Amino acid sequence: MTIQVGDKIPSVNLLTMTADGRQTVSTDELFKGKKVVLFAVPGAFTPTCSEQHLPGFITYADEIKARGVNTIACIAVNDVFVMDAWGKNQNVGDKIMMLADGDGEFTKALGLELDLRGKGLGVRSQRYAMIVEDGVVKSLQIDPPKTFEISKAEAVLERL
Ligand code: BEZ
Repeated sequence: MTIQVGDKIPSVNLLTMTADGRQTVSTDELFKGKKVVLFAVPGAFTPTCSEQHLPGFITYADEIKARGVNTIACIAVNDVFVMDAWGKNQNVGDKIMMLADGDGEFTKALGLELDLRGKGLGVRSQRYAMIVEDGVVKSLQIDPPKTFEISKAEAVLERL
């Protein structure tokens, strides 16, 4: 079943890279008491994600945060080293938190898997963006496979 507006974000551990190395981030900690924009991509370094999706959130990060968002996070079913390398390659700096859902546990718990087996990509995440307040989903925009429209930064801004 796919997560819906009004649902609570499931409790899962993710990974991010810090100056001190890999760090576990529990979703409970990440979302508690905060307004968070979380966007997901099918894969780090893939064309649409690298050329449009992540860059859009970098461009609009200040505007998004000016509307009361504490954290903007990007998640993918990729390992933490890949997410870190992608963030550095895209110069995200401290604008975007790069989250690795390496085992796909979070994506599965949301019911937002994208089956790209047979295409050499395995099971990934659908492309989506959500606004989460204190752990509860307030807005959820899922782009149908092979499209990129409603999960872009501009579309999120319109909902803030
Ligand atoms: C992309 O362009 O973002 C993409 C391409 C192939 C698979 C997944 C994503």
